[in-house]
Amino acid sequence: MLAIIGGSSLAKLPILEVTHRQVVRTPYGDPSCALTFGRIGMQNVVFIARHGYGNSIAPHEINYRANIWALHSVGVKGVIAIGTVGGIRPDMVPGSLVIPDNIVDYSWGRKHTFFEGPDKPVVHVDFTWPFDRELRARLVQTSSEAGLSVIDGAVYACTQGPRLESVAEIRRIERDGADMVGMTGMPEAALARELALPYANLSLVVNWAAGKGNSGETVALPETVFEQGVSKLLAVLTQLAK
Ligand code: HPA
Repeated sequence: MLAIIGGSSLAKLPILEVTHRQVVRTPYGDPSCALTFGRIGMQNVVFIARHGYGNSIAPHEINYRANIWALHSVGVKGVIAIGTVGGIRPDMVPGSLVIPDNIVDYSWGRKHTFFEGPDKPVVHVDFTWPFDRELRARLVQTSSEAGLSVIDGAVYACTQGPRLESVAEIRRIERDGADMVGMTGMPEAALARELALPYANLSLVVNWAAGKGNSGETVALPETVFEQGVSKLLAVLTQLAK
């Protein structure tokens, strides 16, 4: 079974043939919402809306530990994390799909590990390559099979939000080597790694990051272009399940 974590662009998964929903409780509290089980084609899928079904949980308020724990507890073999990002690198044009291969984490104050507390061992998981190589390769392959061009390989910067960044912050993030910026990639990826869950990210660029592009301001994608982006995400997920 494959897990899909839907971001703000995908609070519902219209292509999922739903079989049932399940409320999962975890030692870390409640996930963002009930898990939705079903099928896309032949593939068994469990879906969770990262920001809740009403898109009402801000990036820094998401219980990432509960979400990842819940997916692990129902036996998923891999996680596809969908998110929206701002583009920094010149080819990260709004509307593009990107499959990042590394992360810089600027988030803070989030519960970011399962390995803490008096009766837990100290564990330092390897995070050299934050995303699962095979799952990434499958996403890249699937996207091309779906006839979509995706950007294969990028550094994802995770900021705290919920506000967007200043121009100076984006310049700094760019100097640090990041290509795109979002708010929910961490600690989600690291928590998946701690539970040895293969995890890959598929991002939709929805704006130029602050100071990038022509306007100099962070302008969101027009609704129609956004909808096209969501359709592309769904096309990749449909192809993935074939
Ligand atoms: N910055 C951070 N997160 C984002 C952005 C951005 O410009 N766009 C979408 N998520």
